[in-house]
Amino acid sequence: MSAPITIALLGGGTVGSAVAKLLVENSEDLAARIGRPIQISGIAVRDASKSRGSIDPSLITTDAQALAASGADIVIEVIGGIEPAKSLIETAIASGSTVVTANKALLASHGAELHAKAVAAGVDLFYEASVAGAIPLLRPLRESLAGDKVRRVLGIVNGTTNFILSKMYDDGADYADVLAQAQALGYAEADPTADVEGFDSAAKAAILAGLAFHTNVTIDDVSREGMSKVSALDIAAAKSLGCVIKLLAIAELTDDDTGIIVRVHPTMVPNSHPLASVRDAFNAVFVEAQAAGQVMFYGRGAGGDPTASSVLGDVVAAARNKVAGSVDPGQSDYADLEIHNVGEAKTSYYLNLRVADESGVLAAIANEFARHGVSIQAVRQDDVGDDANLVIRTHSAIDQDLQATVESLRKMSEVRDVLGVMRVENGVSA
Ligand code: NAP
Ligand code: HSE
Repeated sequence: MSAPITIALLGGGTVGSAVAKLLVENSEDLAARIGRPIQISGIAVRDASKSRGSIDPSLITTDAQALAASGADIVIEVIGGIEPAKSLIETAIASGSTVVTANKALLASHGAELHAKAVAAGVDLFYEASVAGAIPLLRPLRESLAGDKVRRVLGIVNGTTNFILSKMYDDGADYADVLAQAQALGYAEADPTADVEGFDSAAKAAILAGLAFHTNVTIDDVSREGMSKVSALDIAAAKSLGCVIKLLAIAELTDDDTGIIVRVHPTMVPNSHPLASVRDAFNAVFVEAQAAGQVMFYGRGAGGDPTASSVLGDVVAAARNKVAGSVDPGQSDYADLEIHNVGEAKTSYYLNLRVADESGVLAAIANEFARHGVSIQAVRQDDVGDDANLVIRTHSAIDQDLQATVESLRKMSEVRDVLGVMRVENGVSA
């Protein structure tokens, strides 16, 4: 019998425990697919006294550094965060281990540096589980679509926020209650601010943009707005406009193909759009490419088992390379496209205004839109006492012109309050 492929697991939480369970349960099939048996050499955790179900207690260690340096064939990092994960991955690479990680926060901030280290050491660095849980997405972008020209990537890439927004929209559920449910189900990050304020989606958007556009993109390049300010009023307005609200990650080429814009923000999505029916912790991502047209990826975006499925896919790929004595090509960033601000994107807006119900007010408001070159698509007026409520939808315009329009409206004496502003996704344009 040939020597086993050794696997060191850093982290034994939601994802790590599911990975350990699947490695044991599926060991015979995995061995057949790889061509050699696999063996877990250790599992590093912070607190060795915690009960960990079916995990063999003799594998548990609190010395993550020693395990990372042990020279295992494959080191899986599912601790999360920047440190100690970064140092541990660097140690593993320096020790000749291939690394599999689910850590989008780390890849979106230090990905280029880690990829360079992996190439220099002649090892693989795989991270399919870092974006959209169980969904095979990064490998299709890197390999299957490598011959095409991607124009836009657009999707729901955070399970926690989609779970919260779905429950608020469908059941009128309370934000804090649903966030607690998402945490209990293992969807949320250790600090759920990363989910609700859009940092997690922004990290994933950076990773997707980097792969789609062959450019080094970090989380600092991503324009980000979270979903914590989405109100019951926004949800009611979305319903009245025939839309749902989703936290979308969007990465797109500029019109002249020389740059990209990467953004994350709450968005009204028409009910007819395929993304509108993506509920609970599911994720879905559209890729629009020149020759392929639209390709949609859909599946479970968070949770232990779905994420472990992606991790194990990488483990098999990494182990096959070990058996063959090969490595995958390094990260492609040859295009080095310029990264533009969200202000240059083309978007449309929904606005909800409380205004004085007097003659000439509607004309004055319409004039502000016209002054900024923004065309109004639809207006609905409802009387509210002596005031009126205006729900306005615009045509597509340059985002910074829309932002300037909103700022001007806020200063008008006739506008009592700006109750809601949100971007609206018009459709899939490929
Ligand atoms: P988690 O449940 O908080 O687990 C983290 C694990 O790391 C725990 O076992 C913890 O030990 C261990 N740990 C923390 N600090 C450590 C240290 N200094 N040394 C050794 N071990 C340490 O997190 P998770 O949800 O599994 O997420 C792990 C990674 O997967 C993150 O990068 C996350 O973004 C990513 N991810 C998660 C999901 C998901 O749905 N949960 C999906 C995709 C990607 P103790 O058990 O002793 O506390
Ligand atoms: N917290 C993340 C989410 C985990 O909710 O999508 C999956 O990356």
